[in-house]
Amino acid sequence: MKLIIAENYNEGSRKIADLFEAVIAEKKDAFLGLATGSTPEGMYKCLAEDFNAGKVDFSEVHTINLDEYLGPDRSHPQSFGYFMDKHLFSKVNIKQENIMLVDGAGKAEDEIKKYDSRLGEEPIDILILGIGENGHIGFNEPADFFVAGTHITELAEETIQANSRFFENIEDVPQKAVTMGMAGITNAKKIVLAAFGKKKAGAIKKLLSDDKVSPKLPCSILKLCRDVTIVVDKELYRCIENE
Ligand code: F6R
Repeated sequence: MKLIIAENYNEGSRKIADLFEAVIAEKKDAFLGLATGSTPEGMYKCLAEDFNAGKVDFSEVHTINLDEYLGPDRSHPQSFGYFMDKHLFSKVNIKQENIMLVDGAGKAEDEIKKYDSRLGEEPIDILILGIGENGHIGFNEPADFFVAGTHITELAEETIQANSRFFENIEDVPQKAVTMGMAGITNAKKIVLAAFGKKKAGAIKKLLSDDKVSPKLPCSILKLCRDVTIVVDKELYRCIENE
């Protein structure tokens, strides 16, 4: 795993956007794996800016998102589909039919089948992952085992706490989600794991501190993947060094 220590969030976001753009430049119909949350907002901003500047073209690009809450549909402001429309899809020339999202209001089994069938067609070319403070990737929470396929997951208490910042009340945070499993994630040809700020330092420190792979620290499965780049900022890295 390669580690990039960026000066700050903006520089890290720029570096990630550049990695994505390099893949699209090589393969105009690249299959991108996308995350939501605070971590990738900056990279989506860079991608939208570069699209406006004519530096990247999304007309043939295909995407798939990692996860979605069960319940809200794409028009709901807290759904991940809404987030993607707001931060990326409405800002670039991607075709709607090339976007794959879980419909949180749909029938979960159908959504799961749709995802696994798409992931069975081709591996993701480049995947951006955020990380939970507990080490989750996608919504693969710490557990006694890894789940390979797309599945329904119960959000961990700490994930509900962390994500309550996007909701008026913590009770409004959905407790279940559909997430891509570890097969879709680990089969990606290139993976970028991004973590910024001191809150994520504990998880990244655990990831880097040994050679073990354990479902108790879901991100540790990335040690089995061929091409993983971890992008952190100096604030996070200083915490790791000083602990
Ligand atoms: C979101 C996702 C999650 C987040 C993680 C970090 O699609 O898959 O794993 O990446 O919870 O969230 P932020 O970036 O908001 O700290």
